[in-house]
Amino acid sequence: MKAIISVFFLILAFPTLARADKPAKLGLCAACHGENGISRTPGVPHLAGQDETYLRKALNDYRSGVRKVSPMSSIANQLQPKDIAAFAKWYAAQPGFRTDSKMRANK
Ligand code: HEC
Repeated sequence: MKAIISVFFLILAFPTLARADKPAKLGLCAACHGENGISRTPGVPHLAGQDETYLRKALNDYRSGVRKVSPMSSIANQLQPKDIAAFAKWYAAQPGFRTDSKMRANK
């Protein structure tokens, strides 16, 4: 009986664990990377579906100065570690870019 109850609660908890909450500061990124991580701007990379650990590392590298590229260095400077974790989780959870994704407004 205990096992059945445990499984029941695991199933209930699963969608909550798998879901990525929309980061509070997503507005800082959306103009360039899109809310869903599909960039609409030439020269701006897609983030959707990218590896979460890689996204966190990239943001930490901009923040620490290991990676220095405008405009990301100054943007990442304003982020706290909890923001970086939230953005990495969010963008990793979005469906990745496909060649038939709507990338640019003029296409
Ligand atoms: C003004 C446009 C702009 C805004 C706003 C912006 N970015 Fe970027 N972002 C870029 C550009 C351009 C690059 C590519 C920089 C490079 O060559 O390293 C980039 C790169 C990145 C990368 C590295 C991608 C990779 O494949 O290595 C991450 C992660 C990232 N941005 C996350 C964010 C997050 C999170 C925010 C919001 C807090 C944000 N960006 C806001 C333009 C922007």
